[in-house]
Amino acid sequence: MTDYTITDVVPEHIDSILEIEKLCFSLPWNRRALENQMNSKSHLFLAAVDGSKVLGYIGMMKVLDEGYISNVAVAPQYRRHSIADALINALIKRTRGSLAFMTLEVRESNAPATALYEKHGFILVGTRKNYYEHPKENARLMTLFFNAEE
Ligand code: COA
Repeated sequence: MTDYTITDVVPEHIDSILEIEKLCFSLPWNRRALENQMNSKSHLFLAAVDGSKVLGYIGMMKVLDEGYISNVAVAPQYRRHSIADALINALIKRTRGSLAFMTLEVRESNAPATALYEKHGFILVGTRKNYYEHPKENARLMTLFFNAEE
């Protein structure tokens, strides 16, 4: 059982997040992009942390009543410990009531992430052809709709 808490990203987390970005993505975000997301009033940026060490994180941009998940990742050695589950649950808890829907893109080959999103109620709403580079690949566009009365 991994011990962690979920908290807003603060400057001390950025170095660990940069490391995880490099391990996870062929086009990782740079420091400035991560800091912009951390400082933006229209973004939520949450991390699962053990002390000052970041195990995983999730970012979401909010525009009116729409949420757009910009990044989700868990450090390879901490995967399959329900950390991504906990990050998505925390994000939904923080935004439920203020959003009509939450959307995201995921590589068609990314089975773990697709399964994660389906588990949380996201459904396939479309495809963006050749959306990704390195390697070129289609994106699945997935959306989680919140009920109006929630
Ligand atoms: N294979 C199949 N399903 C998987 C999976 C895998 N390897 N890893 C996670 N899942 C799905 C399952 O539905 C799982 O639910 P279950 O445990 O009840 O089966 C659910 O995700 C939650 O698992 P969890 O342990 O919380 O996920 P995680 O903490 O290991 O993180 C990712 C999942 C996708 C964030 C992680 O694999 C990762 O960081 N991948 C690289 C970055 C990435 O692809 N980000 C998404 C970009 S769109």
